[in-house]
Amino acid sequence: MPSVKFIAHDGTESEVHVAAGTNVMHAAVDNGVRGILADCGGACSCATCHCYVDEAWQERIGSPDEVEEQMLDFVMELQPNSRLSCQIVVDDSLDGLVIRLPASQI
Ligand code: FES
Repeated sequence: MPSVKFIAHDGTESEVHVAAGTNVMHAAVDNGVRGILADCGGACSCATCHCYVDEAWQERIGSPDEVEEQMLDFVMELQPNSRLSCQIVVDDSLDGLVIRLPASQI
């Protein structure tokens, strides 16, 4: 199972293992990783699952689609590597993915 490392704003690291096909939001929420609210449950309509893809993984993860891009307008502290974690699906090629979490979702 691929692993995902979450790095909180204060530097706290959490590593979880998830089944391929799990999105990054569920990887966090289902494993008790704090910092992602995911109010809409993954429907790409709340922007409370904002995360930053670690620079080393940014090219592999790719860019948000148009709908996600529009939702990203609502996040605080938008950065070039901002993504909505519910829109990133983990597969075996992403084993070791590093995700940084913002200080706040709202
Ligand atoms: S969980 Fe709502 S946009 Fe990702």
